[in-house]
Amino acid sequence: MKPAKITDGVYSLRVNHFNRRLFDSLIPLPEGTSYNAYLVKGSEKTALIDSADPEKAEVLFDYLREEKKLDYVISHHAEQDHSGSIPLVLARYPQAKVVTNPKCKEFLMTHLHIPADKFIEVKDGETLSLGDKTLEFVYMPWVHWPETMGTYLREQKVLFSCDLFGSHLATGELFSEEHIVYEPMKRYYAEIMMPFRSNIKSHLEKLARYAIEFIAPSHGPVHANPKFVMDIYRDWAVSEPRNKVLVAYVSMHGSTYMLVNRLVSRLQEHGVCAEKINLDQFDEGRVAMALVDAATIVIGTPTVLAGAHPKVVYAAHLANLLRPKARFLAVIGSFGWGGKAVETLSALIPNLKVEVLRTLLVKGMPTEADLKQVDELAALIAEKQKGLPPCGGRGCMA
Ligand code: FEO
Repeated sequence: MKPAKITDGVYSLRVNHFNRRLFDSLIPLPEGTSYNAYLVKGSEKTALIDSADPEKAEVLFDYLREEKKLDYVISHHAEQDHSGSIPLVLARYPQAKVVTNPKCKEFLMTHLHIPADKFIEVKDGETLSLGDKTLEFVYMPWVHWPETMGTYLREQKVLFSCDLFGSHLATGELFSEEHIVYEPMKRYYAEIMMPFRSNIKSHLEKLARYAIEFIAPSHGPVHANPKFVMDIYRDWAVSEPRNKVLVAYVSMHGSTYMLVNRLVSRLQEHGVCAEKINLDQFDEGRVAMALVDAATIVIGTPTVLAGAHPKVVYAAHLANLLRPKARFLAVIGSFGWGGKAVETLSALIPNLKVEVLRTLLVKGMPTEADLKQVDELAALIAEKQKGLPPCGGRGCMA
């Protein structure tokens, strides 16, 4: 593989993993992913930025086969998809030093057993000269783990942004195209970044002080359109939610489905976009993406062995972990002879800072009176969401 030139002295060593279908044994990867290393060649020194998942180390070394000397390995993040091949890099380039922050050093020593004398610690804002190129280290904790950071190459105005602004997208294209990368970026943001919205808000403010021409993330294509990237991140992480409802449900014998359908129909009549997701067999990424924008979450569940349906429990737990910016919540569903579905769900979502609008559990098949209550819920949601920006989602009919 030949390194791909991004700009003067800066090369992408992207390791595509087209066939990977699951990340962290949790996150579906419909379009694969990539592990992005970069090479920065100054007039005096050469730095490798990050490495690759060790499963694909041979691709990284194929890129490096002409490189006789590496002076530095900049490590932004200790997670193994980026750091896992660093021990192999150090074995091939024994003179190279790992440049990182103290927390990342600690993690790399813990997870990969890299010896302490291999490191150079850097502070936030500290610089490292490669001769005619200057690397500035930018602490950005919690753009996935607490030790994450980025690097800004001053002369070429490249921000190496770690997981931030990444996308799980394996592609042969060096640079992103907005209409192609939007959805993989949103999926990535939803699954990985959304729990850290408040940190991202601060990082966006910090990064606004830098003149950036290229954003080189750790996953997916390089962005030559930084404004597009910053704007969509501001929308997802900082702006208020949209006039949208996520209705996530399971129905065993049709009763919950009747409630869900009535609700979605009435919401549409009120001009509210509703995204209905059947949790029977679901893509975690699709639920996560819906949670990026939704102002209201409606959970639909039948009662199973006195509690909420286990697939609803899983989705509720996932939503709780992702800490979306939803403001309102409702639970609708059905039971045969009793149970505590609402109580079990409530205990699962302490991270959701939501106003609970209504819980409506009906006995057996919904009656017309039950459906009238669903109509009232739809009206209440529409009233609560009045004034929020329009959904704007693809296929929105509201
Ligand atoms: Fe791509 Fe958090 O590692």
